[in-house]
Amino acid sequence: MSAERHHRDFIAITDFDRFELDALLRLADRMRRGEYDRRPLRGKTLAMLFMKSSTRTRVSFEVGTFQLGGHALFLSDRDVQLGRGEPLSDTAQVLTRYVDGIMIRTFAHDDVLNLAKHAQVPVINGLTDLQHPCQVLADVLTVRQHMTDERKQTVAWIGDGNNMANSWIDAAASFGFALRLACPEGYDPDPVLLARAQTQTDVKLMRDPADAADGATVVTTDVWASMGQEAQHAERVGAFQGYIVNEAIMKRAAANAIFLHCLPAHRGEEVSAGVIDGPQSRVWDEAENRLHVQKAVMAVLLGGETLHTGQVRA
Ligand code: CP
Ligand code: NVA
Repeated sequence: MSAERHHRDFIAITDFDRFELDALLRLADRMRRGEYDRRPLRGKTLAMLFMKSSTRTRVSFEVGTFQLGGHALFLSDRDVQLGRGEPLSDTAQVLTRYVDGIMIRTFAHDDVLNLAKHAQVPVINGLTDLQHPCQVLADVLTVRQHMTDERKQTVAWIGDGNNMANSWIDAAASFGFALRLACPEGYDPDPVLLARAQTQTDVKLMRDPADAADGATVVTTDVWASMGQEAQHAERVGAFQGYIVNEAIMKRAAANAIFLHCLPAHRGEEVSAGVIDGPQSRVWDEAENRLHVQKAVMAVLLGGETLHTGQVRA
């Protein structure tokens, strides 16, 4: 293994600086508008390792790779030797000999860091227990699409301090918007990520969902029991009572506020049907934007596309 790395990974939002993130979203937005017709992944292959279920991540990465001229391999833990105990480091070195990039969805965040350490191709985080950076990048693109400038927004996160909450915390710090998180006691986000973000932007952790929603321009939530926490579902439903995003919560937000949810959603638990299926919801654009942001990430990391960071935003 060569000591020198010639590639970049995307494991957390903070792997790009704020100028790169802005350029990445501008590239994704060109893709969204149909203004990008290059095929930078021609002849290239993405391996997609899934240790957890997926609808959006799997389909958007596979379709996105195809649209950029490449080929994606779906590898679930039921099919590959990793699921039978082959070390991640061996898997990384073998895949390096075949493919041009690896996307992984798994449990322990350290497993992704370990994979990236041993792979000599870019590694993209498709969700861990700690982070979901591709989703939150898509969410910020959705905010930009509907609210113009994400830096002027106040985002309210209501519910579990989970992987999504952690990536929203990173995004608030990197993009520079205000974030209010309302989480029940015992379900706080990662303290290290929170403390780091609080040195960079206005991020507040509170308990009352109505306080978090007060005047917010973006209201967002996620499931109460994430993948891997199925056995805690009943206990979590008890702990999260009062943390539903319903019409009363949306009334506390700004009149033009939008609602986001990474999906899958549980109507009647973390969100009411009236909100997720209502006029303020942008969840379908949000799901679509996974495709555009991941294509931008792959075009840059695997396809040699340049990020034009020179443009200074007003
Ligand atoms: N939002 C998201 O990552 O969805 P999937 O679990 O379906 O990939
Ligand atoms: N927090 C959820 C997100 C699913 C996309 C989970 O990890 O299951």
